[in-house]
Amino acid sequence: MFAFDTLCSQAESSLPEGFVRMNSSTAKSPDSDGVADDAAIRARDAVPSDDLHALMLGLMRSLTSAIGAKDAYTCGHSERVALLSRHLATQLGLSDAAADRIYLSGLLHDVGKIGVPEAVLQKPGKLTRDEFEQVRKHPEIGVRILIEIKRIEDIIPGVLHHHERYDGHGYPGRLSGKDIPLMGRIICLADCFDAMTSDRPYCKALSSEAALGEIRRCAGTQFDPELAETFLKLRPEQIHLLLSDHEDRSRKMLSCQESLKAA
Ligand SMILES: [Fe+2]
Repeated sequence: MFAFDTLCSQAESSLPEGFVRMNSSTAKSPDSDGVADDAAIRARDAVPSDDLHALMLGLMRSLTSAIGAKDAYTCGHSERVALLSRHLATQLGLSDAAADRIYLSGLLHDVGKIGVPEAVLQKPGKLTRDEFEQVRKHPEIGVRILIEIKRIEDIIPGVLHHHERYDGHGYPGRLSGKDIPLMGRIICLADCFDAMTSDRPYCKALSSEAALGEIRRCAGTQFDPELAETFLKLRPEQIHLLLSDHEDRSRKMLSCQESLKAA
């Protein structure tokens, strides 16, 4: 059983230099800006929390769609990673609230690709060293995009650390083992599974069975072995069921994007 607190452990110390986690002592109050009496602010405060939650989720999905519009592969990938991450979090015994935060972090894990040139993201061949360095910056760019959005700073460890490896050879922090925030270790597994089972410009998709075999092979090097063990309890048909609702939505979104490109 994991405590939600561990999700954010080391988050502050592992943020790139110059990034400051916002907390209640650093956040400005409306009064400090002298706008507390503003009617718009009062109206905002009156929004019921359920509506606010829906609004936030809508905003997050819009950001995800923005990446999808830039990189066809990422369209659908983010939602599948979010769903798989939430499922894994639930299997690990995390609370529903913690699993929901992991879902959100999974949804936004590649938001920093907005800052990577399209020509690099969509390049069909092998990337040059310089292009690869540009792609490697996306976790930190993602943090810069999200750090200013109040209420979601606790999802940043997943965005920043989803490319760390358990053996310390990942990026951007080269963290290893349990020093990698749990949120990052969970999203890393879901991200790699979905990448392996998706057609990419430079390689064909593996079957779910073959991808699960790769996760077994890389447990303890690339992946947290305990999380990998839990993930490996998933059967391919369960994965298919888990992602099936989303696949319909994703197909519709892709055909919509194709029509827009053709117009
Ligand atoms: Fe990524």
